[in-house]
Amino acid sequence: METVGGDTNGVPSDGGGSRIDKTKTLSCPYSKRSEEHPYIAPKEGDDRSPCPALNTLANHGFLPRNGRGLTASVLIKGLQDGYRVSYPLAAFLAYGGVLLLGQVVGFGSDPSRDGVGFSLHDLARHDRTEHDASITHPNTPAGDEYAPIKQEPALFDAFVKEARPAPGPSQEGVLSYGTEDIARIRVRREAEPGTRIDAVRQEIGRGESALVLGIFGFLPSGGNTSTDEAKLPEEIIGGPYRFPLSIVESWWKEERFPTPDWAPVRETTLLGTLALQGRMRKEMQSLREKESNYKFS
Ligand code: HEM
Repeated sequence: METVGGDTNGVPSDGGGSRIDKTKTLSCPYSKRSEEHPYIAPKEGDDRSPCPALNTLANHGFLPRNGRGLTASVLIKGLQDGYRVSYPLAAFLAYGGVLLLGQVVGFGSDPSRDGVGFSLHDLARHDRTEHDASITHPNTPAGDEYAPIKQEPALFDAFVKEARPAPGPSQEGVLSYGTEDIARIRVRREAEPGTRIDAVRQEIGRGESALVLGIFGFLPSGGNTSTDEAKLPEEIIGGPYRFPLSIVESWWKEERFPTPDWAPVRETTLLGTLALQGRMRKEMQSLREKESNYKFS
């Protein structure tokens, strides 16, 4: 699959605009993404979730802009078109999300308003896909059914401070996050007093950041990340991807694509995501072991 432009994937130095996969993400090969999918901020009464990825898809019209009428198929199409997620990964995320949500389609939190399907706000139901120890959202207050949707500025600032300069030639000096940085943040958040998160949701938490690395990440070595991940050599799958701080400040915080015509440079696959998630799991284990050795030495 050919992609137009470089493979810096949202890092500001690339100038953004021209990276459009003309064969996969657009119905008209000559129109710009911003023409078919402009950012429009949510209106009063629109539903949104605690997930920056899904909110961004709704803000760009890859999901219903009012955030309602969602089904697994609507999510799959949105994930494929918006982020170039492979079909197996999109189906895994969408059906997995629907199963964990456990809401019968057509009987959402407010069926008369939601119609058939569920809403983005339904995804905030606590301890379904939503969980404690988010990177930028506060924990759900005891007894509440729904988690807070808004990010907490103090958590967001703490997240920004965890960015580290990228090693290697490709984005030298760019502040960014690798799996080890996310592992450090997750270990800290999961250990905070009052936080309750089970093993399934710890995996979900790692998976969320693994997806961000797959979609927006670059390889410090400058390897050819614009090729389909499925066709990359094994050492690159689940390899040392990093995503730039600029993605956190634009996409994660503002819930819009990093540039108006941003398009993903590669396909993000189930295998690649699981590999990055596994790398993060090992890094978290080793951080926890180091912490407990330090306490008992
Ligand atoms: C390309 C696909 C996706 C990406 C890149 C992604 C990314 C993320 C990220 C980074 C967060 C963490 C926010 C934070 O900690 O501040 C998050 C949270 C969340 N995501 Fe997604 N997500 C994706 C797909 C989905 C899907 C398909 C669902 C459900 C069907 C979903 C549901 C959620 C929920 C409920 C949360 C809140 C979890 C929490 O409590 O922190 N996401 N997502």
